[in-house]
Amino acid sequence: MEVSLSTPMSKKLEGKVAIITGGASGIGEATARLFAKEGAHMVVIADIQDQLGQSVASSIGAHHCTYIHCDVSDENQVKSMVESTVKSYGHLDIMFSNAGIANSSPNLLELDLSSMDRLFAVNVRGMAACVKYAARAMVESGVKGSIVCTASVAAKKGSSDGMQDYIMSKNAVLGLVRSGSCELGKYGIRINCVLPGGVATPIAMQYFGMTNKEQLEEEFSRHCSLKGLVLKVNHVADAVLYLASDQSAFVTGHDLVVDGGMLCL
Ligand SMILES: NC(=O)c1ccc[n+]([C@@H]2O[C@H](COP(=O)([O-])OP(=O)(O)OC[C@H]3O[C@@H](n4cnc5c(N)ncnc54)[C@H](O)[C@@H]3O)[C@@H](O)[C@H]2O)c1
Repeated sequence: MEVSLSTPMSKKLEGKVAIITGGASGIGEATARLFAKEGAHMVVIADIQDQLGQSVASSIGAHHCTYIHCDVSDENQVKSMVESTVKSYGHLDIMFSNAGIANSSPNLLELDLSSMDRLFAVNVRGMAACVKYAARAMVESGVKGSIVCTASVAAKKGSSDGMQDYIMSKNAVLGLVRSGSCELGKYGIRINCVLPGGVATPIAMQYFGMTNKEQLEEEFSRHCSLKGLVLKVNHVADAVLYLASDQSAFVTGHDLVVDGGMLCL
């Protein structure tokens, strides 16, 4: 009998339905492209940048990607975004709750609590709303799904140089993931988070007031022990794919750092 040595590579997300918040740009956009390439049946990009989100979705292709306007700080919008996804595509397998913002906030002594409220409305409240409605949809339809949240290396260290509200918000994401894993495990639902180091996306360029992407990448890489490459959105998307797919079937409540050794230095 002749044995074929060329077995076709199976795709990691064959037939899955995924939502990606903050999918119009940066890490979310790269993840949407990767999920579609890995066979996802449908990737729903949820964002507030409508034109950009629509153009990313149509460049991926209408058969595998669609855009929906959703401000994650508004619970009703999150609820209806999840409900319309389930109604249109039958169920929800993956929630990548990734939308986030940063404030150019000063240190604690001058902390602006109103801008901290706005940041928490997206980074904490929005993250919790996405996890809540995704988990509900999974429980209701008996899907043993995967939820991935975007935290940050900022959740693992302090700073004397601003970002205090951002650091607090990303620590809250760790709490949500750890505690969520305890509650959702009995339904077979996994929840994990990814903690990127500095990536030169619009949020980072704006925060650091930089216009030159390469210059910011060079600055970030000075803080990494791993030399010879810089952190790109695709590196983070690869980590999200691992957590979203069955390759991480026994991993839950985990925080996966993608920082080129930054936290070890
Ligand atoms: N870039 C970095 O250095 C870095 C490092 C660690 C963590 N992160 C985190 O990664 C995530 C993605 O950021 P990014 O680096 O890809 O930046 P980005 O600016 O490219 O993308 C963020 C996306 O979130 C969307 N968004 C903002 N507010 C929203 C809201 N209320 N509702 C829905 N969508 C909203 C934006 O429109 C944008 O498309 C964020 O949670 C961020 O905190 C970024």
